[in-house]
Amino acid sequence: MCGIVGYVGSRNSVPILIEGLQRLEYRGYDSAGLALIQDGSLMVIKKAGKVVDLVDLIGDANLCSHLGIGHTRWATHGEPNDLNAHPHWDCNKEIAIIHNGIIENYATLKTKLEHDGHRILTATDTEILVHLIEEMYKRADDLFTAVRLALLEVEGAYGILVISKREPDKIVAARKGSPLVIGLGENENLVASDAAALVDHTRQVVYLEDGEVACLTASSFVTKTIHDQEIIKQVEEISFDLEQIEKGGYEHFMLKEIHEQPESIRNSLRGRLLVHDGTAKLGGLEPVLDTLYKAQRIIITACGTSWHAALVGKYMLEQLTGIPVEVDYASEFRYRNPVINPGDVVFVISQSGETADTLAALREAKSKGATAIGIVNVVGSTIARETDAGVYIHAGPEIGVASTKAFTSQITVLSLISLLLGRNRGLPQDQGCKLANDLQSLPEKVAKIFGEASHIQDIAEEFKHAQNFIYLGRGSNFPTALEGALKLKEISYIHAEGYPAAEMKHGPIALIDENMPVVFIVPKDAIYEKVLSNMQEVRARKGRIIAVANEDDREIDSLADHVIRVPRTYSYFGPVVNSIPLQLLAYYIAIARGCNVDQPRNLAKSVTVE
Ligand code: F6R
Repeated sequence: MCGIVGYVGSRNSVPILIEGLQRLEYRGYDSAGLALIQDGSLMVIKKAGKVVDLVDLIGDANLCSHLGIGHTRWATHGEPNDLNAHPHWDCNKEIAIIHNGIIENYATLKTKLEHDGHRILTATDTEILVHLIEEMYKRADDLFTAVRLALLEVEGAYGILVISKREPDKIVAARKGSPLVIGLGENENLVASDAAALVDHTRQVVYLEDGEVACLTASSFVTKTIHDQEIIKQVEEISFDLEQIEKGGYEHFMLKEIHEQPESIRNSLRGRLLVHDGTAKLGGLEPVLDTLYKAQRIIITACGTSWHAALVGKYMLEQLTGIPVEVDYASEFRYRNPVINPGDVVFVISQSGETADTLAALREAKSKGATAIGIVNVVGSTIARETDAGVYIHAGPEIGVASTKAFTSQITVLSLISLLLGRNRGLPQDQGCKLANDLQSLPEKVAKIFGEASHIQDIAEEFKHAQNFIYLGRGSNFPTALEGALKLKEISYIHAEGYPAAEMKHGPIALIDENMPVVFIVPKDAIYEKVLSNMQEVRARKGRIIAVANEDDREIDSLADHVIRVPRTYSYFGPVVNSIPLQLLAYYIAIARGCNVDQPRNLAKSVTVE
């Protein structure tokens, strides 16, 4: 959730840290701060608000430091104010820490530390940790050891960077549950919670694992477990460009990422779709293919938008493979002692690959003997590394907090898996070819929808003052409706609900009146007529209908107040196409209401706390 960056080397760390924080601001943005070692002294500068407020605070101060750490916060313990902003320091102001995660036993540690004379000034769990390190520093020879010893007493999740003015050339980093990646440069080393902050400086990276502690100087790094065993780490190469994480002429990351979808879907399919054979080839699944072919049941677990993609996956997988599929919120799965039988395969879907609940669900599934398959975007992320096998969605970096291109790529990858398994379980080749052709045409169909943008903008203008929205769809467009509603509430703060269209008459219909906009996803599929009946029911109660319908559908004109046209798509893959206008509608409504779409209130990308 929080953004972390550290630098040690021959250059001035300050602009590097600020720029890194700006790249990481999507992870949290309620306060920001730096700790620097300058001329042998340790200074901390921090401020509630955005990174730009920190930059204003620094103003013309001539800061020049060759070692520093920076943080952008998403508050968990303690309100977002100047005092609670990171970095935090110890009683003697010799050690500074930044932290992402939650120290669960902080209350017990706090009582003990206060009893030992430590003065705790903030409401954060992080400050407890720096005092614990201070305590350990009294008996350890160096900061590296002190941090290690302190972490042995900590329960919870952390990605931390710690510096001390007594060892002015070192950054100590440690992770458990919150990602950290070290960037190796020439006469400099960096460390960050996300490779996005490093890519400008180096492509050589080392991913820290849970339970590992690293000590960085400008010319070296050492890694140990918290139990003092030295580990040799593998150096890996970052594969994405800086350009991919910049706005590229768009006003917002979200709009850029919506428009990237033809390309991101193409990338998800690239080299995997065998159109002539009517099947797919997924190298990442090869180690588990036998198990997968014989699966008795598939359980898909995820959170938020990724959970919606999982629901779409259920429709496709069950229809094309005949394997029963269950979809579970990761946060529920992890605590409900789920029944896992031999022959069950668990799919874990996550854009970031770091979501705490999803990671815990994965570990729960594995501890019960399930084969776990990851469908992940961020390469090298924890979920990607801990699953038995997996398929990267290759959507490219997603910076906008509201997920867009990851959703359509997740569905694309689920389609490929459905096709592969379906063919193995008896789906005829001609049907496989038809599906493969349809999949291949998705990028083109998605690109066509951008022609509707100004029409959607007009609709957004008309409905920008609405207080509620209902989204309705059936079949695999029910999860599309859920996703449309989620996008709207996330970025415009309008209350929105998604329902299966037929479910409306069992309750939500009571809400329909002339002030209620109802978005219907109504492609010409097998249940088209049924959805038309649901539209009639809304119309009879004067609800205002926005329909997402096929280009050649004229019947819809007499029922809907507004029609957004989308190309026809085979029904299982329809959500990829149908979700695009819903993303645009949410975006334009949020803009019309003056909302910050890339950094909506209370949210953060990558939810690494429970
Ligand atoms: C919504 C959104 C969230 C995420 C959820 C899971 O736009 O982005 O609902 O989908 O927090 O995140 P990942 O996919 O990173 O596990």
